[in-house]
Amino acid sequence: MAEPLSLISSLTSFSPTPLAGAVPATSAFPKSRVVAVSASHKCLPLRSFPSPSSIFLHKRRSAIHVSSTNFSSLSPKCFASDPAQLKGARDDIKELLRTKFCHPILVRLGWHDAGTYDKSIEDWPQRGGANGSLRFEVELKHAANAGLLNALTLIQPIKDKYPGITYADLFQLASATAIEETGGPKIPMIYGRVDVSSPEQCPPEGKLPDAGPPSPAEHLRQVFYRMGLNDKDIVALSGAHTLGRARPERSGWGKPETKYTKDGPGAPGGQSWTVQWLKFDNSYFKDIRERKDEDLLVLPTDAALFDDPSFKVYAEKYAEDQEAFFTDYAESHAKLSNLGAKFDPPEGFKLDDGAVAPAAEKFEAAKYSSGKRELSDAMKQKIRAEYEGFGGSPDKPLKTNYFLNIMIGIAVLALLTSLIGN
Ligand code: HEM
Repeated sequence: MAEPLSLISSLTSFSPTPLAGAVPATSAFPKSRVVAVSASHKCLPLRSFPSPSSIFLHKRRSAIHVSSTNFSSLSPKCFASDPAQLKGARDDIKELLRTKFCHPILVRLGWHDAGTYDKSIEDWPQRGGANGSLRFEVELKHAANAGLLNALTLIQPIKDKYPGITYADLFQLASATAIEETGGPKIPMIYGRVDVSSPEQCPPEGKLPDAGPPSPAEHLRQVFYRMGLNDKDIVALSGAHTLGRARPERSGWGKPETKYTKDGPGAPGGQSWTVQWLKFDNSYFKDIRERKDEDLLVLPTDAALFDDPSFKVYAEKYAEDQEAFFTDYAESHAKLSNLGAKFDPPEGFKLDDGAVAPAAEKFEAAKYSSGKRELSDAMKQKIRAEYEGFGGSPDKPLKTNYFLNIMIGIAVLALLTSLIGN
């Protein structure tokens, strides 16, 4: 079984311009912040292969049961990825983005892992898609993936730190987080993608689109329809080019540098589609419609979005209406991120904190409090306990106590009788 980390070192010559400050794949993390898994745990998440640093950790598990300071414990359920570790990884991705400005290449990484999907093939993983196969040398070496080794190198330390998550989930988490962190829409993501386990399971070369085919619109339809996507998805997803740059030494496209890229941020150089290429907005559609600035890139497949009548309807709409673009982009991105994936649990799971919270209870008493402030949870619990002490609840009135009512009736009658008697 191939070892991606050793591949990274063997592949460094493959990418002539690694990102400035790219983190070495083997960089170590403070041991106290890593780990958390008891060797006896029945439900260790599926792991596709051991990376050298995690082999090191596994060895330690049996000797010392280190408790985590980062995430509580593995999920009691046997999911492909542990939700708590995914949340930890999301925080680390945000930190990586803040320091390395690598948002665009992480978006491209997620897209290129998912974009090999073929809906006409039923079997997993032969059908391709978001299954983590892009970590293997054989696939990283596909011409379309030039430069993506840098993205893998950047996030490998996060994978090492959170051994209970899959590459397939990590790639998609990184991409969605990068979109959100550059000001884009919240993507309705689900997780639990299972990883392929060997390079033999990688898709064949040639599944991703070319930027300069003879008939760009036809080519885009051929490739995206094969994935089960439609014209709206093609246009909305192309809008991801609002981020990032093309580099001639990687894809062969773009200028070596422009006035918008010569100073970075991140590794300087390349040609961007937009002026602010680390801001997710609808400027891509405005800029490729105008085609006025020689320093901004328009690939033949970008130009097709305004040349083809069906694509143009969406492209015009997105150029005019950023909200419409964001709504459609979020939906298409979520679709893309799920292509070909096998989920464990089969329905996947959400990571959003709000999504798992139970429906809020009605506490009428809060209405009569001093006004603007909601009752604290502790206070609500106290009120509930007091109600329950009387056999009621804040949601129902107390049950009538018939015995007490009769006693009060008798007392009132006795009082009246004695008053009348006097
Ligand atoms: C529609 C067909 C597409 C074509 C032909 C295409 C082609 C390209 C090319 C040639 C590059 C330059 C790579 C380099 O030189 O480093 C690139 C970069 C990029 N692509 Fe696409 N792409 C397509 C769709 C997409 C989609 C669907 C997404 C995401 C949803 C995407 C996201 C990106 C990003 C973010 C970059 C910038 C990467 C960086 O700055 O490192 N692309 N694309």
